[in-house]
Amino acid sequence: MNDPRMIKIFDTTLRDGEQSPGASMNTQEKCEIAKMLVELGVDVIEAGFPIASEGDFQAVKLIADSVQGATICGLARCRDKDIDRAAEALKNAGSARIHVFLATSAIHREFKLRMDKDEIIKRAVASIQQAKGYFDDIEFSPEDASRTEPEFLCDVVEAAIDAGATTINIPDTVGYTVPEKYAQTVHLLKTRVKNIDQAVISVHCHDDLGLAVANSLAAVQAGAGQIECTINGIGERAGNCSLEEVVMAMRTRQDYFKVDTRIQSNLLVRASRMVSNITGLEVQRNKAIVGRNAFAHESGIHQDGMLKNANTYEIMRPEDVGFTQTDLVLGKHSGRAALKNRVQSLGYHLTDDQLQSVFLHFKTLADKKKEIYDSDIASLIEQVMHSVASPLWTWVGYTMNSPEGEIPNSKVVIKRGEEQYETIVPAKDGPLNAIFFAIEELTEIPVVCNEYRVHSVSTGKDAQAESTVVVEHENEIYRGRGVSTDTLEASAISFLNAINQIAYRKANPPKKNKLETKIATKAV
Ligand code: KIV
Ligand code: ZN
Repeated sequence: MNDPRMIKIFDTTLRDGEQSPGASMNTQEKCEIAKMLVELGVDVIEAGFPIASEGDFQAVKLIADSVQGATICGLARCRDKDIDRAAEALKNAGSARIHVFLATSAIHREFKLRMDKDEIIKRAVASIQQAKGYFDDIEFSPEDASRTEPEFLCDVVEAAIDAGATTINIPDTVGYTVPEKYAQTVHLLKTRVKNIDQAVISVHCHDDLGLAVANSLAAVQAGAGQIECTINGIGERAGNCSLEEVVMAMRTRQDYFKVDTRIQSNLLVRASRMVSNITGLEVQRNKAIVGRNAFAHESGIHQDGMLKNANTYEIMRPEDVGFTQTDLVLGKHSGRAALKNRVQSLGYHLTDDQLQSVFLHFKTLADKKKEIYDSDIASLIEQVMHSVASPLWTWVGYTMNSPEGEIPNSKVVIKRGEEQYETIVPAKDGPLNAIFFAIEELTEIPVVCNEYRVHSVSTGKDAQAESTVVVEHENEIYRGRGVSTDTLEASAISFLNAINQIAYRKANPPKKNKLETKIATKAV
């Protein structure tokens, strides 16, 4: 068999993926994910949209400054300031790419941009030329390409390549296309655009009709050379093409597709868990490739077949994607070195202080829980990574009282430095509400709780609960994490963590960048 054609994997977990409602990540978390993506073998990391906010700029900059081994890409609209800002964030990258985009479909031209076809081409060309002044590697996306008139799409693409674009991305922005149509578009570009051989054709599919992976595969068969995707398929609305699914489809059916990627597939489960832990977006149990049930055989007939020969019911081996036989790892007698080792093999890079903090939490947990699983450790790491380094307030504990015939109440105790603060509040709307209220009262930081989630981290009666809260204070959003074997305590810790972030932000307000415009990326 001839060598398979290599397809580039462009990961946009940190940009389009972050546009999933509730999935925002802080700079340090983005950096952790970027390092993991390099190990995974992705070719391009779209690290963010630098003009969107100071936080986005800093994250792209930190990744460009410190992550080697993949091309680091920043997104920009076809506007001078966007492109300058992206270039500034990317200037220290070993290999940098600016990704400029401009909508081309009739509906976007008329209602969003109010520009005609000539103006669109002129603007795209000028922006590509401006970006080209900074780097050689420039990607151009005609946004909503799949709903753009085919003739006009060809004209835009030809002009973009003439202006210096080295990758032409064909976004199915609204998840409208179907495999055959999308493949025809790629075929059209390959046959009608005379300079198309000077650029790589890329595909970027959204999953509104559940077709993102199928559409991407069809485009690859028609000659596309790059797939844009995200870990766990997270992204705007229904999400993007899922990296693990599209990669494993191409690898498992290499006999058919005759293509491959540089992805180390045995790291897929680790990558999936890290992104899920960091974003708080759970992976559905039956999700292909990385879901907990992806390799679980329930029916007796299947189990029997599996025991006789795994190929009867398995087209991939669990270990090919990184499932291990058991993830039972540590216990009460495990030391710091064993923990450090485990943290590293889970893909995290912690500072000494963070490791020490995880170790202290681990020891407390080991006193309560006999068997500590990878998922328990990942939760502790996430809690530490989500906490400010020196929190103003620390959690002490709570007690619930239910005097006969009276409304129950909660007593909450927290510390500021060495000083202890406590309050007792009636729990007429339940204990959780009372604990959150008590924390607001003691810290004098009122918030609106936009989201509250709690789930079990591992199995068994002594399983830890992990809680995530998203709160709003003075128009800013903060996310807190907490884990404990006690569900109410996990919730309280997550709430207090979010409050500590607010306190930290008040004490250290971020420097405002003059150019900073909060762009509603949802409109992108
Ligand atoms: O979906 C889309 O069109 C995008 C572009 C910015 C590439 O995300
Ligand atoms: Zn997109």
